[in-house]
Amino acid sequence: MRKHFCHENTHTLHVNTLPPHAYFIPHSTRRSAMTFDREQSDRFRLLNGAWRFRYFASFGEVPDDFERDICDREIMVPSAWQMSGYDGHQYTNIRYPFPFDPPYVPEQDPCGLYTRNFTLDLKPGTRRILCFEGVDSCFYLWVNDRYVGYSQVTHAISEFDITAYVREGENSVSVLVLKWCDGSYLEDQDKFRMSGIIRDVYLLDRPARGIEDFAVRTRIGGNGGSAAVECVISQSGDAAVEYRFFDALGYELENGRAVNGRISFEVQDPVFWNSENPYLYTLVLYASGEVIAQQVGIREISTAGGVFRLNGQSIKFRGVNRHDSDPILGPAVGLKEMQRDLELMRRHNINAIRTSHYPPAPEFLRLCDQYGFYVIDEADIECHGVAVRGHEFDPEDMDRLACDPEWTEAILDRVERCVMRDRNHACVVMWSLGNESGYGENFRNAAKWVKSTDDSRPVHYEGASVKGIAFVMGEPLDVYSRMYPSRQEIDEAFDDPGFTKPYVLCEYSHAMGNGPGDLEDYFRCFDRHEGHCGGFVWEWCDHAVAGGAGSYLYGGDFGDDPNDGNFCVDGLVFPDRRPHTGLLEYKNVLRPARFMEDDLRNGAVWIRNMLDFTNLQEAVTIQWTIRQQGGEIYTATIPERQLDIPPHEERRCQLELPKGLNGDFALLFTICQRFDTPLVESGHILGVEQLGRQRYVRPEKDRESFRDLETSETDRHIVLSGETFRYVYDKRRACFETLVFENIDILRGPVGINLWRAPTDNDQPLRGPWEQNGYDRYEVRGRTTDLMMSEDGCEIRTEYVISAVSLPNIGRGTAGYMIGRDGSIRVSISFSRREDAPVLPRFGIRLFLPDSMESISYFGFGPGESYCDKHRSSTKHLYTDQVSRMHVDYIRPQENGARYNCDHLRIENEEMSLEVQGEGFCFNASHYTQEELTRKKHNFELKPSRMTVLCLDACQNGIGSASCGPKLASQYETPRDIQLSLYLQPARKETGLS
Ligand code: GAL
Ligand code: MG
Repeated sequence: MRKHFCHENTHTLHVNTLPPHAYFIPHSTRRSAMTFDREQSDRFRLLNGAWRFRYFASFGEVPDDFERDICDREIMVPSAWQMSGYDGHQYTNIRYPFPFDPPYVPEQDPCGLYTRNFTLDLKPGTRRILCFEGVDSCFYLWVNDRYVGYSQVTHAISEFDITAYVREGENSVSVLVLKWCDGSYLEDQDKFRMSGIIRDVYLLDRPARGIEDFAVRTRIGGNGGSAAVECVISQSGDAAVEYRFFDALGYELENGRAVNGRISFEVQDPVFWNSENPYLYTLVLYASGEVIAQQVGIREISTAGGVFRLNGQSIKFRGVNRHDSDPILGPAVGLKEMQRDLELMRRHNINAIRTSHYPPAPEFLRLCDQYGFYVIDEADIECHGVAVRGHEFDPEDMDRLACDPEWTEAILDRVERCVMRDRNHACVVMWSLGNESGYGENFRNAAKWVKSTDDSRPVHYEGASVKGIAFVMGEPLDVYSRMYPSRQEIDEAFDDPGFTKPYVLCEYSHAMGNGPGDLEDYFRCFDRHEGHCGGFVWEWCDHAVAGGAGSYLYGGDFGDDPNDGNFCVDGLVFPDRRPHTGLLEYKNVLRPARFMEDDLRNGAVWIRNMLDFTNLQEAVTIQWTIRQQGGEIYTATIPERQLDIPPHEERRCQLELPKGLNGDFALLFTICQRFDTPLVESGHILGVEQLGRQRYVRPEKDRESFRDLETSETDRHIVLSGETFRYVYDKRRACFETLVFENIDILRGPVGINLWRAPTDNDQPLRGPWEQNGYDRYEVRGRTTDLMMSEDGCEIRTEYVISAVSLPNIGRGTAGYMIGRDGSIRVSISFSRREDAPVLPRFGIRLFLPDSMESISYFGFGPGESYCDKHRSSTKHLYTDQVSRMHVDYIRPQENGARYNCDHLRIENEEMSLEVQGEGFCFNASHYTQEELTRKKHNFELKPSRMTVLCLDACQNGIGSASCGPKLASQYETPRDIQLSLYLQPARKETGLS
């Protein structure tokens, strides 16, 4: 076999491939065709599995002439060769991992030679088509050692007619895959850069002449009473094409014969396809001995009047961005992994997917049709790196390839391959021209081409929006798409009279690490504007590589340079798909019903149906529970007729509260799936919401009266001794150093005033200012301390400042402690931050307790981690937990596991307990210190401290999503003046032995 060279040429994109067309698999019978399982077809032969393999560190090392038998290893197809230990992993976001010298690629261009045999029975009149669903980044193909051709575009199908190359019996196929080609300049997506045959490879048996392509389109007529189905067929040859059309139950509604390559008929009383009811008809085509089945969703999209409508109804995308990514398989995810993603999404109320930033495997879209997901199908284009200049990034440079005639063809090719392959899918509701590639003539052309080929779907492209609203309104783009604007910016767009297209967020709420914290605020913003059709959270899953023993590795862990660290660990699920708390938050924000108080005391509430197409009573059942004093005292179900609420409407609902209900109470609503659906079983909880307010008053114990309380004072310390305790107060640090209660030493280290938290990924913009201002290494310095005795006990007050070496004071305050004769401590600490100092991460006190203090109960926002702007999956109630279970094991350690808005907390071991009372405090209980969580780069490096670190805070800064999104909204910032008020009560447990 001889080496060929087309991979540094923007005009030789494919050699000897078939023209792009709709994805379909021919079958021999209708029965097998209608299973939609391609492996049922006797005309389909998967060539996945073990292939022979040889890796070359550079293209130069591949001999000019070579034999197949130089492949001395084995590799799985599909897979990325980095996952088998060849080459190395590299994660970069924007920067190209090679010199920017288009269309040339580096000398060191790793390649893999793949080969395998297959046997064939030659059938006269049969064409053999060899299909590659995705090869990263390009490949040369030989069959029986004869050169067949070349192709590129990683996430597109490349098909070769190999009839003239095959023979009876044993045949061979050989593929030389290169890591980089000119196309790599258009594949600068933010991900691990992996290579190889990453998607399925198969052979199709096709008739010599037959159907080459077909396009199905539906239109709704007669006020929804009918629909027109039309199918335009192109074929080589002139065989008759017959068709049959079935409803979802398999009843035949129509049949006939195509006339001049066209089928068209009407469906009466059609059931429309939408995400909530993905009803699919089936069109079966018969021609040239083949049976081809295509599922058809009847639906129509319009953007008239600046509102995105599906079947006439305005809809909102409750979306996520999804990459093909798996910690073991890399990009080579199979049907099973896709299925699992879709199932998880559905169970979390997600209804839309942007296939960032390339088309998915074709079978993925079949699943989306069937399960009801709206899809923005994105062309395989991103050239973000064109604007990188050293450490600078010049947005002006973004348009370089977008405007360059050298790249016109390549850009159009990629858009064309996406649209042609996928246009028969109901789920695809928008075409996207790509991501972060600037804007210019090449994209304008591509947009016009899309419109001339398929005007039934809007064209999306975010890359034009940097040029402003007025610009986008004049371009052949149907929606105004943005990533990461603030809510304020969105609101302002709607004030602009020239703004006439639907607004969509192709990315928002960057879900990196602990976060996002702004989902509910975005939801409300979308809800305010009919012209806003929602958005797609960035992103679905954390990208990482499994490092063994449950560990995950990210950029930089492989000696990769350049790398972008953990910036790709930014999903709503962990790499292995365990949901992050961010996903739970998103789920509840997207709950199908919302509730409002009317006259709660008398059981009157408003229920709003958040669905777009379904009457609420068809979709859900709702339970309500009365919560009082941390307990659940009554549960009932809302009668079905009260849920007769059309989509987007609300209705007042009267609940029958039990008689004799006194005092404060809260109502918890639990929304459950009503019927079984393919991905969600009936009874699955779709969301919760709590109205009203319950209080939790700690059961009063009989107070013993104690007489003695003695104090003694030195320069530095005050020692307080009561009948049951001995406390030592450190005047210099304005806190307690020792707390001994009933002879038990409660502390493993001195208590401290605390303002640091281990920065979250979303703290990224704040971390610099925090560290520059010494927030990670401050000292508390008590100035003057007063000691006062009273009837109830003894009061200590210290005026203090907080400062750090070389820096002006961060702020000052007064620390007050009232120590009761029973050993209780009333904490009252104020703090005022210096005006020009950055917002504090948190403010409170930190206690180091024995690590046996494991059991916790609290009355506050739970059961999971909660923050002032991230508590929508939580309700305020009484919860019990274990400290070691409260740690949320983010791949890059960071602040985690807080509980927000608590009034009560009790932490205990077998010997003793500590009770904390207050109003709306926050706390974290963990075996890791903030210092440890700050220092370590991976979860597997964390060492527990052998203590229970208990942080009791007046407030913590919000979470937000500023790792990529806008600055944290000011209402979630810690205030300048802070007051911490708590009541602490230690107690020894009665063991019954003494
Ligand atoms: C966007 C980009 C995504 C991803 C994200 C940051 O700008 O489109 O691909 O890089 O930022 O995680
Ligand atoms: Mg990018």
